Amino acid sequence: FDFDKKARISGKKTSAYVRSAASTPFDPFQRDVPILPVATPGSATKQLEQYVITMKPGTADILPGLHTPVLGYNGLYPGPTIKATRGREVQIRQINQSGRDLNVHLHGGVTEPQFDGHPHDFIPTGTERLYKYPNIARSATLWYHDHAHGETHLTLFAGLAGFYLLDDPNDKQFDLPQGEYDVPLMIQDRSFNADGSFRYRFDLDRGFRGDTILVNGAVAPRMKVERRIYRLRFLNASNARPYKLELGNGRKMIQIASDGGMLPGKPVARTSIPLEPAERVDVLVDFRDFGVGSKVILHNTVGEASTSAVMRFDVVKGGAEEARIPKQLAEDEELPEVNMERSWPLTFEGLAGGSSVWHIAGGGFSEERIDAKPRQGTTEQWTWVNQSDRTHPMHLHGYHFRVVSVDGQPPSPGDRGWKDTVAVYPRSTVVIRPYFDYFSGRYVFHCHAAEHGDMSMMGQMEVQA
Ligand code: C2O
Ligand code: CU
Repeated sequence: FDFDKKARISGKKTSAYVRSAASTPFDPFQRDVPILPVATPGSATKQLEQYVITMKPGTADILPGLHTPVLGYNGLYPGPTIKATRGREVQIRQINQSGRDLNVHLHGGVTEPQFDGHPHDFIPTGTERLYKYPNIARSATLWYHDHAHGETHLTLFAGLAGFYLLDDPNDKQFDLPQGEYDVPLMIQDRSFNADGSFRYRFDLDRGFRGDTILVNGAVAPRMKVERRIYRLRFLNASNARPYKLELGNGRKMIQIASDGGMLPGKPVARTSIPLEPAERVDVLVDFRDFGVGSKVILHNTVGEASTSAVMRFDVVKGGAEEARIPKQLAEDEELPEVNMERSWPLTFEGLAGGSSVWHIAGGGFSEERIDAKPRQGTTEQWTWVNQSDRTHPMHLHGYHFRVVSVDGQPPSPGDRGWKDTVAVYPRSTVVIRPYFDYFSGRYVFHCHAAEHGDMSMMGQMEVQA
């Protein structure tokens, strides 16, 4: 992957929307959705699964007749899916052969701080690092990606992202779709140069916006489905583009989980699902509602016209159904009393000399500064006050939170479970309650619009034992 070429392209900093040369001729729904490879552990016992992954350049076949240089886990774009089980540790030996200093963050994971992928905690190129993931939290759709300080907008864009599906044997009670009927779908936007390489353009204001939507690394693909229930796990792994996902003809998707796992109470029927960068949503879609031969388009209803087709489901045959739509999901959990309240203004600041940055609470990211020292085992109440005209998907490492209110109103039903990333829309105020259970130590929190997080909308908390 040629970062120099990208640096030249990004030299001209503009927020103008530029259509890339190569992407216009390609129609959507030409390719079957890629089924992402699942990583196989080198060794596995009841307590521990061990993997080896190499971060290195590779190529992806995205556009007809062209090869796209990428930087990927095992050289793959998207990276291999890790399937983990609650209560069984996963260790991943990450070998860095990328030519750059990188690290790995398990997004949504609960890990000790030394395994979290703090932006300053590098794996120098040519070296390796063992990451230990205890898998002690709830089952959920997690993902892993690079978190190199100031460069995540390039490394994520170059291809360093993969799913990490944390399963819980107790979820069997829900009779959810399994195996090929449980499908992780990674949504990203890209633009292309005429030679097929990714085309990056730096935009500090809105973050990168590409003109072409990829799902699991294929341009707006189609997916052949049977007339049965599918579990679709959507992840927005884009740098900065938000989506609003809607099935054709206003058909329903039944949401069962969000970032932090299963929703409490009943599943939520939705016709429109907003998904900000790094957010995940697990839905059930019952394709028995459609006849064989139906083609059901999944639309994105925000942004430019070229980004409106996300993928298409082609109902190709009948099927015997074993799954069902559960009536009741997770138990509701009581949080401890709020121990401390903090308020975080989110602002865009012009600097002397003409450059600008994004700030949390009047500051940019500094390794030296600790912005909060919550006590382990407590709940705090944090208020994001967005004083800017852009949306900030605010993410906490190491812990989960509940959304208390959005501009004084209760959150939408799909956001009432555990979250690790929440959309803070322009000029709005979002109140959350992080629960500092699990480990103590230093973690970051930041905006997950990659360009914002890198420049430098990121703070640090040190959870006190
Ligand atoms: Cu997806 Cu700091 O994380
Ligand atoms: Cu932001």
